[in-house]
Amino acid sequence: MSRWMRKRGLIAGTNPKSAAAETYRRLRTGIELANRTAGMKTIAIASAEPGEGKSTASANLAIAYAQANRSVLLIDSDLRAPVQHRIFDLPNETGLSTALAGRCGIAEAIRPTAFANLQVVCAGPIPSNPTELLDSDGMTALLEAAKERFDIVIVDTPSLAAGADALIVSDKCDGAVLVIRRGKTKFDAVAKAKESLESCRARLVGAVFNRTGR
Ligand SMILES: Nc1ncnc2c1ncn2[C@@H]1O[C@H](COP(=O)(O)OP(=O)(O)O)[C@@H](O)[C@H]1O
Ligand SMILES: [Mg+2]
Repeated sequence: MSRWMRKRGLIAGTNPKSAAAETYRRLRTGIELANRTAGMKTIAIASAEPGEGKSTASANLAIAYAQANRSVLLIDSDLRAPVQHRIFDLPNETGLSTALAGRCGIAEAIRPTAFANLQVVCAGPIPSNPTELLDSDGMTALLEAAKERFDIVIVDTPSLAAGADALIVSDKCDGAVLVIRRGKTKFDAVAKAKESLESCRARLVGAVFNRTGR
């Protein structure tokens, strides 16, 4: 387990009996239902602003899925401020950015983790043209290929307020989960985030109220 995990607590992985782990299992069940009824396989984890807990939620949800014996691919699409390589203690020399730029094959970018059934595509080195890379046919093809190989694909995204990247990625996914940091994110920002998600192809399949106790 990485230092990041110990320090920040990957709840689902380290303490499966906790209330938070139960929350992720419930979210997983909701997504499962959407998966079965509407064939949703690629799920973008989105939020209005940075720091609301998207990356933490993505990692926990991915672990909750893996613990249910489903094969999971977690993709870090936050090419400007990636964190999944730190959460799972993985090298970041190759990843989504290098695969989309054609500098490595996608197989090289998919890494196993300490968790059975869970593999991660880290973001890779920060590129000079993140929006262009995400808004490419290569990204569409990568997600389609991942759907063939994995039971579920969870995509950690940048914040919606930070530019076009998050919407571009969500538009390529089947479903989206909106993370809301209770007590911090303003209602207007949440409403705007929901509205912009509704304008893209992904269907909103759930919301996470993060840090409810703080
Ligand atoms: N439920 C939580 N309880 C405590 N700390 C949290 C929780 N969710 C997120 N954090 C912390 O808040 C910070 C931002 O979380 P992160 O998942 O990186 O947000 P985002 O991806 O939306 O920018 C991180 O330091 C993370 O460890
Ligand atoms: Mg993040």
